[in-house]
Amino acid sequence: MTDIDRYFDEHPDAVGELRKLHRFVDANDAAVRLFEADSKEHFMAKASDMLPANRNSNSAVYRAMFKRGTACQGERTLVTFSGRKVPIVWRCSLPNDLEGYRRLFFYAFDVTEQKENRDRLEALRAEMARSSRVSLFGELAASILHEISQPLSGVRTSSDAALRWLERDTPEIAEAVRAIRDASRWAKDATEICRKMRGFLGKVPERPVQFDAVEAVDSALFLISPKANSEGISVETNVTPGIKVFADPLQVQQVLVNLLVNGIHAIDSVPADRRKLSISVQADGADATVFAVQDSGCGINSETLQSLFQPFFTTKADGMGMGLTIARSIVERHGGRIWAESQPGQHTCFRFALPANQPVALPSD
Ligand SMILES: Nc1ncnc2c1ncn2[C@@H]1O[C@H](COP(=O)(O)OP(=O)(O)OP(=O)(O)O)[C@@H](O)[C@H]1O
Ligand SMILES: [Mg+2]
Repeated sequence: MTDIDRYFDEHPDAVGELRKLHRFVDANDAAVRLFEADSKEHFMAKASDMLPANRNSNSAVYRAMFKRGTACQGERTLVTFSGRKVPIVWRCSLPNDLEGYRRLFFYAFDVTEQKENRDRLEALRAEMARSSRVSLFGELAASILHEISQPLSGVRTSSDAALRWLERDTPEIAEAVRAIRDASRWAKDATEICRKMRGFLGKVPERPVQFDAVEAVDSALFLISPKANSEGISVETNVTPGIKVFADPLQVQQVLVNLLVNGIHAIDSVPADRRKLSISVQADGADATVFAVQDSGCGINSETLQSLFQPFFTTKADGMGMGLTIARSIVERHGGRIWAESQPGQHTCFRFALPANQPVALPSD
């Protein structure tokens, strides 16, 4: 055997078989308490059941031995005698002589509290991202609502027409049917707009998947195009066909919308003939996808450039200064990075890189 990971992959039963050769010989009071056992004897009698073979944890120990490591550790969840689940971090120091391998010491640390804190932090982060979407949406709502009023008046005109055809002395059924079909198509358009708006505002769990970058760009454009149009800003896109990204689609949309809205603000006082936004997506090697959002706005001086991503940094009277902070936290959580370059008075370009493919999963319990 030369590659232990491969060996375990090819022999899924090996860990369980090896485990049968082991015995639990002692446990301290803290271990007895951790498992909520009545006594040490109670715990020792059931130790093998309470600490069942576990592919990730057990193979981590064999792997460390195999590589002549000095220690190893990992995470797993144990179940106590009363049925409570306890997340633990375990650690094992490895001896440097073969004799020492006869008896290994394992330490377990109950990390329930840390895990709860981590979960709370996670929930807080998700809530912050959502409230930022709500406030972004507030900014775009007026122009999107204008967009939705079009299909709605389409519904009205077509159904009025249908009624007129039906109320004639000799009803024109065929014409009425045609008008009702039109109304139904308009209504479908309006429903689709509502669905997309709800998608942006909804409370949805984070779910990274591999998807086409063009979908992220389209969904961001759906939200900002009405506003860009109403402000006379032309929007150009240049997306390498077929380019993929591995991330949570809603969050990529959120980052793009944040950057595009900032771009729209920056263009505020630029003359009509050079009001431009552009979005491009390109591959950076085989593993990264880079999004760029450029605007022909006022630009950012080099001093401001340093503070952009700090929480609550804003130069706007009604800004919160959270847009870029949240954009950065989203990008970094996905293992990417975000940066900006600018020529004051000319243009600004924000770029962010995200993984193109699913990262190789690390073993965890
Ligand atoms: N494209 C841009 N051109 C010029 N300045 C920009 C651009 N993008 C961001 N900035 C500067 O960075 C600051 C921070 O942006 P950020 O999006 O974090 O907050 P904000 O837009 O001020 O408020 P909000 O929380 O509502 O997004 C802005 O106030 C602005 O000064
Ligand atoms: Mg902003």
